[in-house]
Formats: sequence, structure tokens, C-alpha cells
Amino acid sequence: MLVLGIETSCDETGAAVVRADGEVLSDIVQSQVKLHAPYGGVVPELASRDHLRNGRPVVTAALAQAGVAARDLAGIAVTCRPGLTGALLVGVELAQGLAFGLEKPVVGVDHLVGHLLSPFLRFSGLTQPDPPSFPFVALLASGGHTALYRVDGPELASISELGATRDDAAGEAFDKVAKLLGLGYPGGPVIDRLAKEGDPEAVDLVWPMRRRGSLEFSFSGLKADVMRWVMKHGRPGDDHVLRNLCAAFQRRVVDTLVEKSVAAALAQKVSFIVIAGGVAANRELRERAAARANENGLCLVVPPFRACTDNAAMIAYAGAKRLERGEDDTGHVETSPRTLLPRVTRKGRGKRPAHL
Ligand code: KG4
Ligand code: ZN
Repeated sequence: MLVLGIETSCDETGAAVVRADGEVLSDIVQSQVKLHAPYGGVVPELASRDHLRNGRPVVTAALAQAGVAARDLAGIAVTCRPGLTGALLVGVELAQGLAFGLEKPVVGVDHLVGHLLSPFLRFSGLTQPDPPSFPFVALLASGGHTALYRVDGPELASISELGATRDDAAGEAFDKVAKLLGLGYPGGPVIDRLAKEGDPEAVDLVWPMRRRGSLEFSFSGLKADVMRWVMKHGRPGDDHVLRNLCAAFQRRVVDTLVEKSVAAALAQKVSFIVIAGGVAANRELRERAAARANENGLCLVVPPFRACTDNAAMIAYAGAKRLERGEDDTGHVETSPRTLLPRVTRKGRGKRPAHL
């Protein structure tokens, strides 16, 4: 079964052809990073217009690279939530138009389910870890989302949120701190590089949500603490002070993500931890997570970087699982800015369920 995936939920236009067993035949990603860089973040209107420009060429390239004729596809999978409404609509209309023309079924995919199933993708010519077995605990850390999930199977009903961020996502915190320090967008890779040469103990920043037992995250307090530091000491130049500040910030984000992921895996009595999302590219996060997983007898699975960042292959795979179950959304793919995964964490402050 061959499925074409289309992804336009944020600032990447993606198309991929994937087999139902996870084999990736093609995976094309057209990034909009340069388009949004001057604004320090994604501008929704610009994103939609760029998806409109790139949608058709990206799909054509994905089919050509896979050597697959459109008529040989079993169906089309498209991200329909969560994401920027205008951006999602472009991808969904592209998918529906194609499906209509080809008389193929189309299924909508929740972007977060795509990320959570990304460890099952198989890229030829790439060394990658064996996929996890169900059930596993997954940390999804990207520019838009940060949450821990228990994943019992590939379908939406088998995935439950264990805790999420109350405010900023981890990647968003990297991006905002980088902007504050004049380091450009996206912030993760540049902070990662600078932190490598800094001393994380040299600057004393707050530890986010260290409360024992809580699987919720909060990064806005840490971001505010960096802001307070900058107001007091001034914005550091390109020197060891900047590297120390980046190292301290990154250490706090990484330790928080890793400790909560390990605690979640132990509490859920699972053997596998998966880390997905763009922040999984972080060198310190990978190293620290590997060490802590090892100490606790857990098996860590971090998909290759191209599977961690936004891509259409994970959408095609999640869609293939839906098509295999005989599901079909033809004619009624709905978009939404929200995930369908049940949330246990509310944004902002307020009363929490007792177990959190
Ligand atoms: O998954 P992704 O490509 O897009 C979504 O947000 O869905 O993730 C992008 C995020 C950005 O916030 C970026 O700063 C962060 O991932 N990121 C990193 C690193 N590389 C990318 N964060 C920390 N360290 C990195 N090396
Ligand atoms: Zn994403």
C-alpha cells in the first residue's frame, strides 16, 4: 500500500510517498525558514501563500523521486490539525483536489499523531534505531508543542497525554531566548552550538516546574528569567558570557525534558522512550536522555533528524494506518487549530486535576 502524504500545518511544505510498513520512498520538504527569519517567527499569511506556491511542485517532486505514478497510490493523507488555519486549508484543498481527480480516498491526519509515529519510518541508506514496541512513552518537543504521551498503538484512541506545557513550547523558548539575545531565527540550532562552549553553572537561572511528580512543563518563567538577566547585565556580545548564558538556559530546558520523560516512562512501566519534534536535534538533549535512559534500564529511540522535524513522511505513515483500518474522510476533511488528542494540561495557571 503506497500513500502520498501532504504536510502544510506550519512553515514547511512537505510531500512524501511512504509504504504502509514505514518504508519511505520519497520525502520532500520545502522549508520557509528564510521567508520568516526577518520577522523572528512564523507569519501565518506568508506561510499560507508560500504553501500555495510550493504545494504542486513539492507533490510532483515526491511522486517523481519515488518513481510512483499517482494512479498507483492507495490514497492520500493530509495534515488537518493542529496548525495555522490558512496553512492547513491549502494542504487539505490540495489533497482533496488530487483525491477527487484520481478517485482515491483521502484521510486527515492529526500532526501530533504523525510526530508520535515518526520512529516507525524507515529511510533507505540511513542508519537508524530499531522502532519501539507498544506501549511507549514519547516526548514531543517542537516549536509549537511540548508534551509527554503514552502511546499504546498507532491510532488516536490509543494515545493519551500525560502532561504538556502550560505556556511556551520548548522550541518556542529556544526561539524567544535567541531573539532576545539577537541570535536570529530559529533559535535552537544556534543556542545548541553556543552552549557547547559555555559553562552551564556560570549563570544562575530558575529551574522550570521542578515540582516532584508533575509531568507538566512551563518555560515562560525561564524565558522571563533570561530577560531579567539581560535587563540587569545588558545583552552579552559574542563572547564567553553569551556562551555561558546559552549553556545555562539549555541545561535547564534539557534537564527538565529528560527528567520528566524518565519519570513518565518509569511511572507507566514501559521500556521505551521516544523523543520526537525539532528539539530532538539538540545535542545535549540526546546525550543526556541516552545516559538517563541507560541508568534506568530504558531504551531510548530518537528518530533521525529529518523524521523529527516537520515532514510529510510521518503524515503519510499515520494516514496509511488509518487507510489500513478502512477509514476514509473523502469529502469531509475538517481543519482545526487544535489536536484531537485529549488534553489533560490546560494552558495558563488555574486549578489542575489532582493527579498532576
Ligand atoms: O518540529 P519542528 O521542525 O517544527 C515545529 O515546531 O513543529 O521544530 C522546530 C523547533 C524550533 O523551535 C527550533 O528552534 C527547534 O525546533 N530546534 C532546536 C534545535 N534544532 C531545532 N532546539 C534545540 N536545539 C536544536 N539543535
Ligand atoms: Zn511539528
